[in-house]
Formats: sequence, C-alpha cells, structure tokens
Amino acid sequence: MAKSSKKPQAKPATKPPVVAPVVAPAIDIGLSDGERRKIAEGLSRFLADAYTLYLKTHNFHWNVTGPMFNTLHTMFEAQYNEEWTALDEVAERIRALGFNAPGSYADFARLSSIAEEPLSSTADWREMVRQLVLGNEAVCRTARKVLKGADDAGDDPSVDLLTQRLQTHEKYAWMLRSLLQ
Ligand SMILES: [Fe+2]
Repeated sequence: MAKSSKKPQAKPATKPPVVAPVVAPAIDIGLSDGERRKIAEGLSRFLADAYTLYLKTHNFHWNVTGPMFNTLHTMFEAQYNEEWTALDEVAERIRALGFNAPGSYADFARLSSIAEEPLSSTADWREMVRQLVLGNEAVCRTARKVLKGADDAGDDPSVDLLTQRLQTHEKYAWMLRSLLQ
C-alpha cells in the first residue's frame, strides 16, 4: 500500500504548566541570624590564622637548613599536612552556618592576626621555630575567643571543632618551644 503523501497535522499548541520555582528555605538550625553571623565571622578569623600558619609551616619545611634539617623538615611536614586537612573542616562549618568562607590571600591577610615576617636568606632554624611557636599561640588565642562565643550560643559543633584545634595547636606550640629550651 502506497504511503500517504499527506503531511501530519500539527497538534494545537498547549501551554506548559506553570511550575513555581523551588526556593531554598531560610536557615533554621536553632541559632539566631545574629548568632550565626557572629560565629561565622569568628571562624573566618580563625581560618585566616590557621591558613597563614599552615603556609608558614610549609614554607619552613621547604627552606629550613642546618644540622636540624632532617628533624625539622619532617616535623614541619607532619604539622602542615594535619593543618591543611583541618582547614577544610573550618571552612565547611562556616558554610553550614550560612556564610561564605574566606578563600583568597587578600581575605586571609585582612583577617589574620599572624604577621607575615618574611625570613632573610640567612635566618636559621631557631628563628623559624620561634615564629612557629608564636603562630601556633596566635591560633590558640583566636580559637579560644571564638570558642567562647560559640559556647554562649549553644553551637556545639563549632565548640567541638575549635576544642580539637585548640588541643592540637597547644601541643604544636609545646613541641616547638621544647626545641629552643
Ligand atoms: Fe616536602
């Protein structure tokens, strides 16, 4: 049987159903907007300190010289690897609180309480260790302040995170200081 040469009839146009766009609900995790903002700002300062210390520790892993080379090259590596992993937890806690985490060198320089203190090419390992003691202690002071605010607001996940970081950086400060005693 020969095929029909008739063109198929166009179906009458039908309007697509109107679907309301899905909107993300407002954050409601049991903390007020002001509490979330204050804790996130504190965690951002902590992240900036922790990132600056991480970078300083990695820098010294690369550039340390002298009779303590092997000990310090290895020790700095263990510390910067652990610090690097912890940064992600802090940044993601800021996101969970509903704010953007700082993530640029300009942000970190603005927010950090740790000085850059670039080393001269003749600086020895003792100066590196001294700077890392001070850096770890600065991280501890910031953690303690932010932890207090998080505790007052009942933000246990932030308290837990900062307690762990405090414990670790106090230990690093002790280990590093011991090298100079
Ligand atoms: Fe390395």
